[in-house]
Amino acid sequence: MSDNANFVASNAQAKEAQAANDADGAPEIHTHRPVPVKDPVEQGSGETQYCELRAGGTFLAIEATKGMRPIILYAGPDLPGVTASELALLATRQHAPGCASVPLRGSLLNEIGTGISGPSGLIGHRGGHDWALDLRISAVKETALSTIEIHCEDSNIGIQAVHRFMLDPATGLLASNTAIENLTAEEFEVDWCAAMCLPFDPRLSRFLSFTGRWSGEFHIEEVPAFQGSIVRENKAGRTSHDVFPGGLLASPEANETSGLTAAFHLAWSGNHRLRIDRHSDGRGFIQMGEMSFPGEIRLGQGEVYQTPNFLIAWSESGFNGAAHAFHDHLRESVMEPRSLTTTRRVHYNTWEAVYFLHDQDTLIELAEAAANVGAERYVLDDGWFGGRRHDSAGLGDWWVSKDVYPDGLHRLVDKVHELGMDFGLWFEPEMINPDSDLYRAHPDWVLGARGVDAVPFRGQLTLDLTKTAVFDYLFEKIGDIVSEYKIAYIKWDMNRDTNHPSSNGRGAMHLQTQAVYRLLEQLRTAHPELEIESCSSGGGRADFGILRYTDRIWTSDNNDARQRQTIQRGATQFFPLRVLGSHVGPKKCHITGRKFSMAFRVASAVFGHMGMELDLRQESKADLAILKAGIALHKEHRELIHSGRFWRLESAPGTNLVGSVSDDQCEALFSYAKLETELATLPRRIHFVGLDPNMLYRVRMIWPQHNPSISTPSIMDAANLLGKGAIFSGAALMGHGIQPPLTHPDTCLFYHLQSCG
Ligand code: GLA
Repeated sequence: MSDNANFVASNAQAKEAQAANDADGAPEIHTHRPVPVKDPVEQGSGETQYCELRAGGTFLAIEATKGMRPIILYAGPDLPGVTASELALLATRQHAPGCASVPLRGSLLNEIGTGISGPSGLIGHRGGHDWALDLRISAVKETALSTIEIHCEDSNIGIQAVHRFMLDPATGLLASNTAIENLTAEEFEVDWCAAMCLPFDPRLSRFLSFTGRWSGEFHIEEVPAFQGSIVRENKAGRTSHDVFPGGLLASPEANETSGLTAAFHLAWSGNHRLRIDRHSDGRGFIQMGEMSFPGEIRLGQGEVYQTPNFLIAWSESGFNGAAHAFHDHLRESVMEPRSLTTTRRVHYNTWEAVYFLHDQDTLIELAEAAANVGAERYVLDDGWFGGRRHDSAGLGDWWVSKDVYPDGLHRLVDKVHELGMDFGLWFEPEMINPDSDLYRAHPDWVLGARGVDAVPFRGQLTLDLTKTAVFDYLFEKIGDIVSEYKIAYIKWDMNRDTNHPSSNGRGAMHLQTQAVYRLLEQLRTAHPELEIESCSSGGGRADFGILRYTDRIWTSDNNDARQRQTIQRGATQFFPLRVLGSHVGPKKCHITGRKFSMAFRVASAVFGHMGMELDLRQESKADLAILKAGIALHKEHRELIHSGRFWRLESAPGTNLVGSVSDDQCEALFSYAKLETELATLPRRIHFVGLDPNMLYRVRMIWPQHNPSISTPSIMDAANLLGKGAIFSGAALMGHGIQPPLTHPDTCLFYHLQSCG
């Protein structure tokens, strides 16, 4: 037996499967016996059998003959009426000179035993032997509506694999994973197990990856058509800032609103690997999975390792189409329903106002100022506990600091409640400073490999949450504070990479990640009203794994209003505005040192879960009035912003255009941010999207509060945009577009469209 505990399905995956099972819809699934396809390699006992799964506009066709290797014939936008057998015949391949005498077809994980030359999705062995895996189908099961399992076995090596495909009937998004079980007494070591090797349409020649760094997340980098492999690996021990576990495959002509596209993402908050391979035979495969440390995943007899879910959504209407599937899937199948129904309260966060200088009178003064401009939640950031007077001490000591708060947090919390706000608190539960009481008592509670120095990182180490004592300590300490102070919200931070996590001498990132999920889940069960934000030095832990247990992500530490436009836009490929924390920062941005007007800072925070994070005492009266007006505007339109259909528009260089359109298309709010001066003398027209061409809309400009045009007269006057506005058809607004006024850069305009016939 392996000493590596419990590799059975994580809570997340079980819940994902459950969600898919519970979902409505009527996908079709059947096995049938159409025209037999002759295959010299795969010739088995009987006729070829196929599986077809259709739901939400997606079609998945798999050749699934018992005793043979499973082959994905098609995965992509639905091809109405098309059968799997037809596709098998259409895809007939042949011997090519200089290659194997028969075409090699691979399998769901392209195991080494299939002979396929490209990289395998499953690499494992028993002490260096039994590594040429070749999984053959033993059963195909429809386990729930729109969910199939393909059970495979390598009877020589004694390994079973269950490949699960769940098609979300509401969105057409495909979630897939693989569970590997060791059937024999000898330990089996899994070095790599992708959720799936998914073949992709050869027209998807471009790869768009999401990359960045601390304070510069979600930047899109494009790799044009390529041959060979692209590998993106992350072993930061968190989702990471630089290697987002996902991306886009796109056809040459695809853009925001048209063209064939596939968006994909691994729902996991630990280490991960993405491979995209274009084989020399012309086929392309994409595989994603958890990247483990050597020897981390070793299965004893009967033990199972299950991969995280690999999510993929196809669209024939460009990147937005795929984004919509991800947004809806997150809302309907991943996040807690209560997270969707609660109104997103406007935050005030203390971090950039006071950092570690906690003084109760100042904090109360800030609370009053925040309530005054419309804040609904006050979040006390880092610095309230133990010896945490700076960032090198105190983590782990989760009790209120007597030095700063001699009578506890009651005075501040009561004041915040009195002002009509609820109270949020910062924690960094997985971390510990060597300079803490906790570390002095339990130096053995940290993760770290024998003989290797911990990489210095913000003066802190990672706790070993796989240890029951550590887990229980955190659950109890956090729970006590939440109960005592009626905490409504936790900002759950995680500010270092976990470089070589070892527990009892073994790689432990997999179990550590699962333990974090479990801790979050248990806290939410014990405190059902509690909202939790996933922060990791900004957007370092933003993924569909963590969002099962949390309510929003802190998109970035960078509150530079101009850069925020780009960061936020990138994040919306996967995350809806409802979960993207976006704050109004100080006039002079602390990260970039640049200065922005309050009107622009506000506008860059309205499209998201709005908040503010600045010393309000430093702002002029006039700016506070603008802030107050901006918060009021957000509140007035947040239902539309958070629940409407979000669109990224094709934007002229130096601009950012996004918008939300109500489901009935009767109302819309678009944001047009000008970030640079244009090459032409006047800006390019805005072509709105998502409207009903047959509807008439009254168009008004509701931000900024004054005419932003740098010369007059302009369309502002002609269409009375700051007044009653003017009426245009949806067809004209989308097909012809509206001329924006000429403004200075760092100006952001909001167009409000209301149907009037
Ligand atoms: C991280 C977060 C910040 C802030 C600090 C506190 O960097 O991203 O928002 O909470 O920690 O130390």
